[in-house]
Amino acid sequence: MAITFNGAYLEGFMADHELKALAPAVKAAHEALHGKTGLGNDFLGWVDLPTNYDKEEFSRIKAAAKKIQQQADVLIVIGIGGSYLGARAVIELLKSQLYNNLKKDTPEIYFAGNNVSPSYLNEILSICEGKDVAVNVISKSGTTTEPALAFRVFKKLLEDKYGEAARERIYCTTDKARGTLKELADRMGYETFVVPDDVGGRYSVLTAVGLLPIAVAGCDLDALMAGAREAQNALMEPCVLKNDAYRYAATRFALYQKGKAMELLVSFDPCFATMAEWYKQLFGESEGKDGKGLFPGSVTFSTDLHSLGQFIQEGSKILFETFVDIKKPKQDFFIENDAANFDGLNFLSNQEMSKVNGTVMDATILAHTEGGVPCAVLEMPEITEHEVGYMIYFFEKTCAISGYLLGVNPFDQPGVESYKKNMFALLGKPGYEDRQAALKAKLSK
Ligand code: PA5
Repeated sequence: MAITFNGAYLEGFMADHELKALAPAVKAAHEALHGKTGLGNDFLGWVDLPTNYDKEEFSRIKAAAKKIQQQADVLIVIGIGGSYLGARAVIELLKSQLYNNLKKDTPEIYFAGNNVSPSYLNEILSICEGKDVAVNVISKSGTTTEPALAFRVFKKLLEDKYGEAARERIYCTTDKARGTLKELADRMGYETFVVPDDVGGRYSVLTAVGLLPIAVAGCDLDALMAGAREAQNALMEPCVLKNDAYRYAATRFALYQKGKAMELLVSFDPCFATMAEWYKQLFGESEGKDGKGLFPGSVTFSTDLHSLGQFIQEGSKILFETFVDIKKPKQDFFIENDAANFDGLNFLSNQEMSKVNGTVMDATILAHTEGGVPCAVLEMPEITEHEVGYMIYFFEKTCAISGYLLGVNPFDQPGVESYKKNMFALLGKPGYEDRQAALKAKLSK
């Protein structure tokens, strides 16, 4: 098994019988998910995606990635939320959070259209100067304002630089038939890839949404899908005691019922930080509705032990932690002995740094449990495409079952519309005039 759930440190916070008591609810959630009878059941395309994906498109993704690697020094990936986080998370986890600074034979990759910061946009534009550029614009709806605005800018950059040939450098990932982006792509002759109708943004990393940028970064798509497929098969057992994703989901739910309103996903390697952002979107958008849901947060230790560590140890007892214990780092570092030992650190010598990092984790779990914070552990053997594919599916399945245990629809995000309506009204989008007047009256600036 590529990811295992270790609940050993939950002793004193949660008893085994509490998990067993949730077995019927978990089984019902499993049946609703696989029988497609639960809330949001028209968005279950991700469930069998690792086996049932478009093989022809998969080959086209690999071919397009090769073409981008040959034609571009820089790939700009334009998208927001589920349309960029998964790709960025996988690239940083498998390659590095410093991917763009590494010596490599693949293009630099920058993510745009996930904010409206003029400074950020200008910085990326200036990075593109003098370099060959390609763009992958990703939007399921094809109408989301932030990426659409960024695309307008980068489309112009490419057209100014390459003229007619710009179309050879623009790759669109969007709905198969609908939306402004699809219409534009068809008119201009851009190569298009599909966000399947039945896969929501935050569950779409294993579709073209994530796969094209991930392939451009030089990651092995076959191994990624094989890992997800292994998880799909391994996590079919309905019994909470025999399915680690379900055990994790039930544990989260039991702790939530005991007043732990926040989960912190903890890692000990900064290359996991964006994966934690992906987890936050996955769980936050899936669970946070109807006045319910765990608030998903994340920390990277040791870094955050020197910022949030104090709060976690001694602050309000509102949270539990889930530690991601990666057994083998991508690279280790041998700590040599220093004959002078001025710094007094020879007690750390003659061992790999991963051993020290693992000890920091053990020490932290013991301290935090002592401080009244429940600590669950997800054990992951190493960071490879296969393991990452497994982990993605593991979190998706945990999230779906968690949502059903809570009684919410884990596949919609109605709350995201509220800010959009206000933004359109305040920016003067036609059709929002009435709302504009009401909002302006409320604003104090
Ligand atoms: O998970 C989701 O559905 C959202 O985060 C969307 O991915 C995000 O809002 C972007 O939407 P779109 O791809 O339609 O531009």
